[in-house]
Formats: sequence, structure tokens, C-alpha cells
Amino acid sequence: MSNESINWDKLGFDYIKTDKRYLSYFRNGEWDKGTLTEDNQLHISEGSTALHYGQQCFEGMKAYRCKDGSINLFRPDQNALRMQRSCDRLLMPQVPTEQFIDACKQVVKANERFIPPYGKGALYLRPFVIGVGDNIGVRTAPEFIFSIFAIPVGSYFKGGMTPHKFLISDYDRAAPQGTGAAKVGGNYAASLQPGYKAKQAGFADCIYLDPLTHTKIEEVGSANFFGITANNEFITPKSASVLPGITRLSLMELAQSRLGLKVIEGDVLINNLDRFVEAGACGTAAVITPIGGIQYGDKLHVFYSESEVGPVTQKLYNELTGIQSGDIEGPAGWVVKVA
Ligand code: PLP
Ligand code: COI
Repeated sequence: MSNESINWDKLGFDYIKTDKRYLSYFRNGEWDKGTLTEDNQLHISEGSTALHYGQQCFEGMKAYRCKDGSINLFRPDQNALRMQRSCDRLLMPQVPTEQFIDACKQVVKANERFIPPYGKGALYLRPFVIGVGDNIGVRTAPEFIFSIFAIPVGSYFKGGMTPHKFLISDYDRAAPQGTGAAKVGGNYAASLQPGYKAKQAGFADCIYLDPLTHTKIEEVGSANFFGITANNEFITPKSASVLPGITRLSLMELAQSRLGLKVIEGDVLINNLDRFVEAGACGTAAVITPIGGIQYGDKLHVFYSESEVGPVTQKLYNELTGIQSGDIEGPAGWVVKVA
């Protein structure tokens, strides 16, 4: 695909075949040094554990074009760490942090022409590890593949930084001691039907409650939840079944150090939403998406406004995206230059 045919102003979140992807194999107890390839098809055994038993995990991260033309990665060490934890949870070999970050840089450089211009989106990186090789028993795979591909993206939720409405789901995406905290495909398979139903009903996505009691907000589709109170508190759910998001982690730090908010990881009771003056969803793909309303049963709870972005949400957005694109100095180590 030629990048001349990409309309940078109309980018959404769709697959585009870019030039090169990274591919490394784990055989005989070690990862090979990996190669870049033009081929976007994987040829794997029909017995691969990734196909039958969901032995796979992935990451989502972005490379940003800065005003001066340089390219930033945002906290890639955190993605490497999270993927190592996901691999542990599914009995797969960890990819060392150094190899992970080096592979990210190779993929970004090899697809540089697909990085959207400054301010127009980002190059989304999708690292993943899958169990492959001939097998049939429920056990860990004999071999593994670690790969990263890249796609230019714009807004994940249509309309981007505008308030969106979400629907509380009756379904769970993960179990209390299950795999919710790991970024594994099974959680997303479980979310397909509830997400589809929410979108069919006119919502941006669904919100999951805690799987044990169904009384507390856990996640907003494929993003984390945060709420702002009138007492200047930034509150985000604490739970073993929530994915520990890197955007959320970063916002917790920025809310406290740059906006002077009190940061609380705690319960977000669905019957006590009145305490929030603003609410949002945050994640790599979602960036910060303001939550205009939450539908719970037959009641729509409106936060700041159904059409306008709240002032604290806007400040958090400006700070986060400013750091990512190099306009604002971030805390030490957050930004890693590719070139
Ligand atoms: N929660 C879920 C279920 C996700 O899929 C994501 C996206 O990666 C997040 C939260 C946000 O995580 P991060 O900020 O690391 O992208
Ligand atoms: C991300 O934010 O990177 C995600 O992985 C969310 C979704 C596209 C799966």
C-alpha cells in the first residue's frame, strides 16, 4: 500500500498492511535475534496452542511524530514488563526488555513513511507472542513466535476527544482470579459479544462490573476507567481482574504531580456515581475518551456533559498527549527516541 493514498485526517483504527514486521522464533530454549519481513502471513502448525487453547498475549503501544521530525515511543519498558507478566501467566517464555524495545525501534524505522504527521494520530504497534508447533494436549507449546506489526491510527472511538456513552454489561470479561490482569486474547474473545450488543444499542462500548459482586465498575471496553470528584480526587478501580494500563498508570502520576489531584485506587460503586463530576476511559488506543454518560438498567447517568469535555479531563489529555508528542517534558524515562 502506498502511503500517498492515506488520508491522515480520516484515520480510524483499521488494519493497513505496512511495509515490514518483526518476527522472532523461540526454539530450543531461546529467542533468535529476529528478522524484519514483508510477509504479513504466518504459517503455523494446525496443532498450535494459540489456535486451540488461547496461548497468546499481545501489547498495544504507539510511536509519535514530534514537531521537530523526531519519533517518540512512550514508556516501551512498561509494555515489555506487562508482556513478560502476561507470558508468565500463560506459561510462555518472556521476551527480554532489551529485545522487545529494539524490535519496536526496528519496526518503527522500517515503517517510518506510515507514521502520521505531527498531531494527526500515531503509528500503533502490536507486539504479540503465540504458542506454535505440532501439539494436541493441553500443555504449553513446543515453540513460540514473537512478532510486532505497525499500523497508522487515528481515533479508536469515533469522534475521539468528545463525550461518549457507555452501557453497563451483564457479562464479565474475566474471572476474579482469572486472566483479567494479563493482556491475553481470551479476555477479548469474551468481550466480543457484549461489545457488539452495546454498539448495536447505540453505545460506544460496554462497561464491565467486578465479576464477583457486580457492584463496582472495572473496565470500559478495552480501556481503564477514571473518575474526578468535586473534591479534586482522581479515582480509578483497584481490582485483580483489571488490566494494569500504562495510560492509567501515567495519568495517576500526572494527576498527582502536575494537576495536584489526590489519586485513589479504590472501589467505584455503580450506585454512587453522583460523586463524580467528570469521568473518562483511558488507554493506548482510546487515549482519553470522556465518558458523557453511563446507561445502567433504564437510567442514564450523565457526568460533566453529554457534549462537552470537562476541564480536568481536558487538562489530563493535554498533559499526556503533550508529553507523548514531545511538546511537554515528561517525567524521566517516559519518552524513548527512535530517531
Ligand atoms: N484495559 C483493557 C482491557 C485494555 O485492552 C487496554 C488497552 O491496552 C487498557 C485497559 C489500557 O491499557 P494501556 O493504557 O496500557 O493501553
Ligand atoms: C490498546 O489500547 O492498545 C488496546 O490494546 C486496546 C484494543 C485495541 C485491544
